[in-house]
Amino acid sequence: MTPLSPLTAAWTRSKPPLLRFLDNCLNEFSAETSGSVADYIPELSKADPAYFGISLATLDGHVYEVGDSRVPFTIQSMSKPFVFALALDLLGAGRVESAIGVEPSGDPFNSIRLNSENHPFNPMVNAGAIACTGLIYDSKGADAFEQIRLALSRFAGRDLAVDEAVYGSESQTGDRNRAIGYLLKTNAVISDNVAGVLDVYFRQCAVLVTARDIAVMAATLANRGVNPVTGEQVLTPYAISRTLSVMTSSGMYDYAGEWIYRIGIPAKSGVGGGILAALPARLGLGSYSPKLDKHGNSVRGIKVCEALSSHYDLHML
Ligand code: DON
Repeated sequence: MTPLSPLTAAWTRSKPPLLRFLDNCLNEFSAETSGSVADYIPELSKADPAYFGISLATLDGHVYEVGDSRVPFTIQSMSKPFVFALALDLLGAGRVESAIGVEPSGDPFNSIRLNSENHPFNPMVNAGAIACTGLIYDSKGADAFEQIRLALSRFAGRDLAVDEAVYGSESQTGDRNRAIGYLLKTNAVISDNVAGVLDVYFRQCAVLVTARDIAVMAATLANRGVNPVTGEQVLTPYAISRTLSVMTSSGMYDYAGEWIYRIGIPAKSGVGGGILAALPARLGLGSYSPKLDKHGNSVRGIKVCEALSSHYDLHML
């Protein structure tokens, strides 16, 4: 290895420890090349598997970032916790909690299985997220997507846009999600406009974010709903605490038990390659690396979270 020039060595030593930690993660885990880029939404398969960005936001509003932390990618399932929190505040906990359960399903994210009441198991799997979007759609109609986009933007502290190509690609191929929508309709979880609900759900999944955005969004969850960069109270502490609860039990799908046992930080993944981790009262982390494991979770993102948890002893229990 080429020795660092005295200047570079001095600069490296002067970096804040958290930034050095993120740099080390980036260097070490870049060597990890296992997993595969999601292709069941055809447009997602175009992502460059080499992309790797990490960002960490502290609750005093510092944002650290390394690698491809400003490369945009689609939020996908990382939208689910925020839309659940929005539904709680917009519609009231009673309405939302009577339609969507809070038990881990132990199933993959796209499972069509419902619970014994024929309701979704929780708001983190597709069925629960579609139901959540459906409840907002039933109440807000044509304005539903804009309300969701604005809420996501307030969590990120900037105006977020939609990737039209990814939206179109999922809209053309998302028949399994449509089937889930009809299943929810026949069980009276959502009302009759399944196509309208799915359109909002596909758009919500195609909102563009960066690893930096995800870190700020996660830090807002960790900060009882106050965005630590903008200072805005985005949603109520009740909605945020219940959202973190379901992220803890179900955020990583059929890997959720293993995740909370080993890493101990509430988290949510997305098939676009993002992982969001929010440690209450401490920090928010966002990572982006498109190669996924068999559960649909970013391989390198998991490694970053494992390292963060063990290096700083952040397991919450
Ligand atoms: O509904 C879907 O299948 C995608 N739009 C989102 C799934 C997802 O991100 C699962 N997470 N890892």
